Amino acid sequence: MSDLLIRRATLDEVLPLRALVLRAGGPVESARLPGDDRGEGVHWSAWINGEIVACTSLYTVERDGVRSTQLRGAATREGHRGMGVGGKVIEAALSAWRETPPVVRPLWCNARIAARTFYERHGFMPISEPFDVEGVGPHIRMQLHEESVPGGGA
Ligand SMILES: CC(C)(COP(=O)(O)OP(=O)(O)OC[C@H]1O[C@@H](n2cnc3c(N)ncnc32)[C@H](O)[C@@H]1OP(=O)(O)O)[C@@H](O)C(=O)NCCC(=O)NCCS
Repeated sequence: MSDLLIRRATLDEVLPLRALVLRAGGPVESARLPGDDRGEGVHWSAWINGEIVACTSLYTVERDGVRSTQLRGAATREGHRGMGVGGKVIEAALSAWRETPPVVRPLWCNARIAARTFYERHGFMPISEPFDVEGVGPHIRMQLHEESVPGGGA
């Protein structure tokens, strides 16, 4: 994987991969997430030989009336999964998030049940019972567990 490049991406770069992986090849427009039209997401990507193979995005959102950061749109192109590419994208996104004030905590995601161990390996812990997302399947809410975060609290 010597040609692997991990970098920030634009929305236009991640939308087609999101649509392919997360919208079953649906139209690119179907892969837009809340906030995209306002340019709110911070997008990360992995590229191999000039092709985008993985992506993820972070959004500042209100959860239960409190600002937080939601990780969304994690996707790795079929044929490139299980090789650590998605993990590298998540780690790059998390590192930049930690290092770029203001750091809006906590950071969480609604994970597909099948991806639970993937997120656990990157420091997330379940914070809900499984729930169903219509048309997608069972999910579980997970939150990044950070030790000794100044002001991070429990
Ligand atoms: C989940 C996903 C983004 C992980 O990306 P990746 O590049 O395969 O991740 P890595 O190679 O760093 O880690 C692979 C781990 O992800 C987990 N995983 C979850 N779904 C997987 C899938 N469909 N294929 C392969 N691994 C998957 C496995 O636990 C795997 O662990 P292993 O290496 O012990 O087998 C990718 O598998 C994917 O796009 N899946 C389909 C879409 C999806 O479920 N997105 C998450 C939405 S919450």
